[in-house]
Amino acid sequence: MIQFKNVTYQIDDQVILSNLNFTIPPQKITALIGPSGAGKSTLLKLISTLISPTSGNILIDERSIHDINIIEHRKSIGFALQSAPMIYGSVFDNLNLPKKLFQQTLSDLEAQQLLDSVQLNDLKLTQDVSKLSGGQRQRLSIARTLVNRPSILLLDEITSSLDVKNVQTIEKLVRDIQQKYKLTVIWITHDVHQASRMSDEFIMLKEGSFITQGDSNTLFQSTNHTLQQFLEDVQ
Ligand SMILES: Nc1ncnc2c1ncn2[C@@H]1O[C@H](COP(=O)(O)OP(=O)(O)OP(=O)(O)O)[C@@H](O)[C@H]1O
Ligand SMILES: [Mg+2]
Repeated sequence: MIQFKNVTYQIDDQVILSNLNFTIPPQKITALIGPSGAGKSTLLKLISTLISPTSGNILIDERSIHDINIIEHRKSIGFALQSAPMIYGSVFDNLNLPKKLFQQTLSDLEAQQLLDSVQLNDLKLTQDVSKLSGGQRQRLSIARTLVNRPSILLLDEITSSLDVKNVQTIEKLVRDIQQKYKLTVIWITHDVHQASRMSDEFIMLKEGSFITQGDSNTLFQSTNHTLQQFLEDVQ
């Protein structure tokens, strides 16, 4: 469970996130929606401790983010981005990156199992990543998030630059992985239909403020005016 308590994040005088209070349920998929500039990516950075709140507190399983062991916490988080950034080198080099950060090395067997889990069994560990397709890169980036056996998965618009078929593959993959590893997933998406079909719950932000939260089955029936307006604008 991830709890936001009066969380504000500022850069100099600019308030990016303002007095957020909500709880993200454990072992579910929560979609994070809202217009561009709402602060969605910033919220994921706060959870991953890439940045710290200016005021307020974030509790992870009831422990303050100020008190937890940062290294253990970062190990427990997988973070994937739209651009699926890769380092120059092989499939193995890229999979091994999260281990290398902690001065460890992935075995070939573990690497192969990770590829299998994202249906990239046909890739060779020695293959150069520069030759991969967009869909393969994104699947590899998801496999990489799993290396340190995370409990939280943060996904920032991971399907935004993929075609329909690859979007379907990634959606199924995330659902399977979430269930298999009992992950708490927070998924930022611009696609409200994806939010509705893929998530259990949703949270909407706008201009740095919390707007509403609810069961994703009821997303399109929400009576919240700001959410209704947003849904109209994006469809
Ligand atoms: N390092 C930074 N310096 C200055 N302003 C920033 C910085 N990071 C984010 N912002 C500002 O904070 C606001 C929220 O940014 P954020 O990237 O979190 O929004 P978002 O909801 O993810 O938007 P999008 O849907 O376009 O990705 C924006 O106005 C952005 O310009
Ligand atoms: Mg963003």
